[in-house]
Amino acid sequence: MAWPRPDRHPVTRVERFRAARRDPELAVLEGFHALKHALRFDAELLEIVVAQDGPALRLGCELAPDVLERLSCARTLPWHEYAELAPLPHPTGAIGIARRRQATPAEVLGVPGTQPLVLLESPAHLGNLGAAVRVAAAAGAGGVLATGPHDPWHPEALRAAAGLHYALPVAWVESLARGTRPLVAITPEGEDLGSAILPPRAVLAFGTERSGLSEEVLASADHRISIPMMAGVSSLNLATAVAVVLYAWRLRDPEGC
Ligand SMILES: C[S@@+](CC[C@H](N)C(=O)[O-])C[C@H]1O[C@@H](n2cnc3c(N)ncnc32)[C@H](O)[C@@H]1O
Repeated sequence: MAWPRPDRHPVTRVERFRAARRDPELAVLEGFHALKHALRFDAELLEIVVAQDGPALRLGCELAPDVLERLSCARTLPWHEYAELAPLPHPTGAIGIARRRQATPAEVLGVPGTQPLVLLESPAHLGNLGAAVRVAAAAGAGGVLATGPHDPWHPEALRAAAGLHYALPVAWVESLARGTRPLVAITPEGEDLGSAILPPRAVLAFGTERSGLSEEVLASADHRISIPMMAGVSSLNLATAVAVVLYAWRLRDPEGC
């Protein structure tokens, strides 16, 4: 899918940040933690702005001395000018533009090792998409693929992922992608996760928030696995379900990470 390119050459800082939000080659990183992770995982930062009197540099001293030097080179602006650079200025007072680390679906599917991949089928909420990327990075998954209308590198998804798109390959894919990997449907009607086997190199497919996995994915799956819930509970939040399954895998198979 081609997300629209910015229509004209941006001149002012506000225009640059606005244009970057729609540029399929760029990533807008909102907040100290997103910038911290992007720097830590070697993103190519094109511009960083921090708000004067905001907490970003103090947070850098306290939480991320490894990236402090690069954060200190940021342009410093009064809060009201910083606040013009995003629709919802992040309270940590930091924002930046980086080049995306582009990965193709084939590259994600070809990641070596036994780790699972996460396939999100048409996630509706960018916050869930980002939270799924964040936990996939934390648990050591091989990568994340997402189908549907949303760009997984959208600034809102990056914000929810705290910039961890730079820690593992993340790509949009037209339709169900599995390559030669086993496909595991994660669905409330399946074998109990407590006893189910998670095969190596699996693609773990998670469904859309309202209606779950499509018939196509359910029909093609090699396994169906469910997360046990108390009676009366219909389902977990999408990103929570991703976290539960990835950590079930990780805690069982720490060597595979
Ligand atoms: C909010 S749920 C969708 C609920 C939908 N009504 C359904 O029946 O699948 C979003 C996704 O999270 C995963 N999920 C949530 N709770 C789950 C559970 N208890 N067992 C397995 N998967 C679950 C599934 O992949 C599901 O498609």
